[in-house]
Amino acid sequence: MRTILRSVSVYAALLPALALAPALPAEQPANIAVDLAHPGAAISPQMYGIFFEDINFAADGGLYPELVKNRSFEFSEPLTGWKEIMPISPKGIEPSKGELAILTDKPLNATNPHYLQARVHQAGGYGFYNTGFRGIGVHEGEDYRFSAYVRTDGKSGGPKTIRAEVVDNGKVIASGKLEGFTGEWKKFETVIHASATADHAQLNLYIDDLGAVDMDMVSLFPVDTWKGRPNGLRKDLVQLLADMHPGFLRFPGGCIVEGRQLLTRYRWKTTVGDIAQRKTIINRWNDEFDHKPAPDYFQSFGLGFYEYFQLAEDIGARPLPILNCGMACQFNTNETAKMSELDEYVQDALDLIDFANGPVTSPWGKLRAQMGHPEPFHLEMMGVGNEQWGDRYVDRYKVFAAALKAKHPEIKLVVAAGPAPAGDPFDEMWAHWRELHPDIVDEHYYMSPDWFLSNSTRYDNYDRKGPKIFAGEYAAQTVQSVSPDNRNNWKGAIAEAAFMTGLERNGDVVTMASYAPLMANVHAWQWTPDAIWFDNLRSYGTPNFYVQSVYANNVGTRVVPVTPLVDGDGLYTSATLDERTHELILKA
Ligand code: AHR
Repeated sequence: MRTILRSVSVYAALLPALALAPALPAEQPANIAVDLAHPGAAISPQMYGIFFEDINFAADGGLYPELVKNRSFEFSEPLTGWKEIMPISPKGIEPSKGELAILTDKPLNATNPHYLQARVHQAGGYGFYNTGFRGIGVHEGEDYRFSAYVRTDGKSGGPKTIRAEVVDNGKVIASGKLEGFTGEWKKFETVIHASATADHAQLNLYIDDLGAVDMDMVSLFPVDTWKGRPNGLRKDLVQLLADMHPGFLRFPGGCIVEGRQLLTRYRWKTTVGDIAQRKTIINRWNDEFDHKPAPDYFQSFGLGFYEYFQLAEDIGARPLPILNCGMACQFNTNETAKMSELDEYVQDALDLIDFANGPVTSPWGKLRAQMGHPEPFHLEMMGVGNEQWGDRYVDRYKVFAAALKAKHPEIKLVVAAGPAPAGDPFDEMWAHWRELHPDIVDEHYYMSPDWFLSNSTRYDNYDRKGPKIFAGEYAAQTVQSVSPDNRNNWKGAIAEAAFMTGLERNGDVVTMASYAPLMANVHAWQWTPDAIWFDNLRSYGTPNFYVQSVYANNVGTRVVPVTPLVDGDGLYTSATLDERTHELILKA
């Protein structure tokens, strides 16, 4: 057998930090022995994946590159993001020549009941603008699709055009217009070209003629999205994910699945189909933290379940949707659906399997096909509840499991072990799971770097006959869990890398692992650390992200015994064999 030792080239990125570790003098060589004659357990092909949640403006204002904030006027404060352009003359600010109003009569559709009416009542034109997500970012030389549903009062002589200008520091850097309106709602669009790069521009809209014009779903969207799709994702961010070659994509979270109350839980059915019909709701991270309130944080669901499945497929990751199990976040209202009300929740889970895998003749498979994907998305697993715990959770899980296993025994179910890696809720949940034996148990650790270092052997003694483990959310908290001062730094990244040697070495028990959260907008985050940071134009992976990437790109197929596993001097090891390429992969 030809073997290639990949440790030096692949892990060069980690070596400087190892050399800095005070307990490991650089001049002292470490001897690592690998027993290739006795390869151990197979490693799950989906071992290292991605946890995506719309936190830190990761979806709207991030991966979903709509540039207009509150395009549908459905935020609780319906003019959020929209302002009048005040006419200024040498004499000062002049009275406005028009007015904006939010109306609801004869709306675009029932799930999008509000729209904007701009009325010009004095000749000379009237303008208003959208602020974007902490500004609008455009790249020089790129095209952007400006579109809106528009209607006038149908009378001749009313407004004939809407002029759009992307303005940066007073300079127009892209412009275009919509025209041809009638008395009926209709979508209009034009492509505008950016002559300069700007990260904090605004979108100005002008109406020159007297009269009123109704507008909804006002959008400015890059033409150059990932794979060039019209409702596509931000290219640079998807590229980072694709380069990681993740084994799975967990979506849509996270606590966002639960909602702070059941009314605002994540309901996948409201996130598919025509984007103009997807019901905007508040984002649960909106004002969760006093240290980072974000009153303008809502979910448009432009990035919905179809797009999540498509993203997973694009980047070669197995989809792992997590569904609400009838419980709102236990850190918030803790609202719980009555057992007699669970049918709707269970039906959502059953229907999701149809949406992902069902034939195009099934109601939900038909919708998938209409949206452009007649082939199945090959859903193999699903989470029941996010970070739940307690008896109420177990009772509800039993109902889900009975229904799902009866109809879809092929779907593996993921359950939660509570919010922490130890303590009463964790122990209680494990007592239940040992008895009920779900397929996979999701453990979360938002712990200190020291915890990660001292837990690299955590799974060495886990029951080999029990449920598999999903290390579903973890990140070293360099200050304290949920502290806004946590940093993405080498200390945390190396601690995670050390811990991950233990996940990998126990590949017969641990089948999946994902760092969390994944993304953060540098101007609008709520939670740190995060794997990837971005602004309106740029993005970068942190050291923590590259640890994930190194592992995901070098999984191997089988564990190989290695010594020492941990030497007490800051050395942590794991070895795997890739039977397809005949490579030995050593991580140290
Ligand atoms: O990753 C951030 C949050 O941490 C997730 O939404 C939740 O599941 C956990 O508490």
